[in-house]
Amino acid sequence: MVAEVLAALRPSPGGRFADGTVGGGGHAAAILEKTAPNGWLFGCDRDGAAVEAAERRLAPFAGRFELRRGNYSELFESAGVGGWDGVLLDLGVSSPQLDVAERGFSFQQDGPLDMRMDARQPLTAAELVNDLPAEELARIFWEFGDESQSRRIARAIVEDRRQQPFQTTGELAGLIERLVPRHGQRTHPATKVFQALRIAVNDELGSLERGLAAAVKMLKPGGRLAVISFHSLEDRLVKEFGRVRARDYEFSGPVDVPELRRPRAPELKLAQRKAVKPGDAELAENPRSRSAQLRVMEKI
Ligand SMILES: C[S@@+](CC[C@H](N)C(=O)[O-])C[C@H]1O[C@@H](n2cnc3c(N)ncnc32)[C@H](O)[C@@H]1O
Repeated sequence: MVAEVLAALRPSPGGRFADGTVGGGGHAAAILEKTAPNGWLFGCDRDGAAVEAAERRLAPFAGRFELRRGNYSELFESAGVGGWDGVLLDLGVSSPQLDVAERGFSFQQDGPLDMRMDARQPLTAAELVNDLPAEELARIFWEFGDESQSRRIARAIVEDRRQQPFQTTGELAGLIERLVPRHGQRTHPATKVFQALRIAVNDELGSLERGLAAAVKMLKPGGRLAVISFHSLEDRLVKEFGRVRARDYEFSGPVDVPELRRPRAPELKLAQRKAVKPGDAELAENPRSRSAQLRVMEKI
């Protein structure tokens, strides 16, 4: 969604932008082109291979960017307050992560049950699958995958791993396929469980929550935050974050009682009321973009 991101962030010569999920550097390169000749970009990614790929892609802009390996939620904390024109988060996994079997993200190719975006992190999907009690696995599949068969799948995993621990994506996908056959559906029956494990292994929602707060601190007044999410959990979190920060009041406790509201200046305004979806041309070229949604907020 490069055109949509550029329309949202409005980069212009001399602008300072941060890309928290730089991946292969596609969006970063487009931003650097628009901020020539003297704009600056800070990019980061948890994945060492992504940072290397971005270094290569951004080489023509040498001297105008810095790339770091790490979690945007931590690196944004040290990026300085109030000096940035725009921040981009393009969440989720990248095509290279999905396409390399050894990374263990895909149920379509057999690989180790890994799923770590950052290979320096000790926790892998295999540990969750082989060590967690059935109730905890079911909670992950339900909360992070919306998997209606969460308990059944979790019980079957616990039963199966007594014989031998799960080691590969193929073993786990095979068990789910036997348990919940496809019945002509287009999506693989393991899709939701794999998504849930990936979110849990990488603490994706925790990073997003902390990263959004840190990104708002980085922005100048008028600066924009653009977030592309790929599933409803992420999008709900981003939407709720924008709604709360755009309010001109706050309240304590779980319920918003109008009489008990305390006025305060809003921090953000929503640049569009609805999320932007990819256009037909992008959908035809990149079918993985079908669930992408872009939300844009502006610092007041
Ligand atoms: C969809 S890809 C980004 C693609 C990129 N916008 C481009 O143009 O090539 C998502 C990237 O975000 C990274 N990522 C996900 N969560 C992250 C986090 N909390 N901190 C840093 N990088 C993260 C992944 O490793 C992956 O490379």
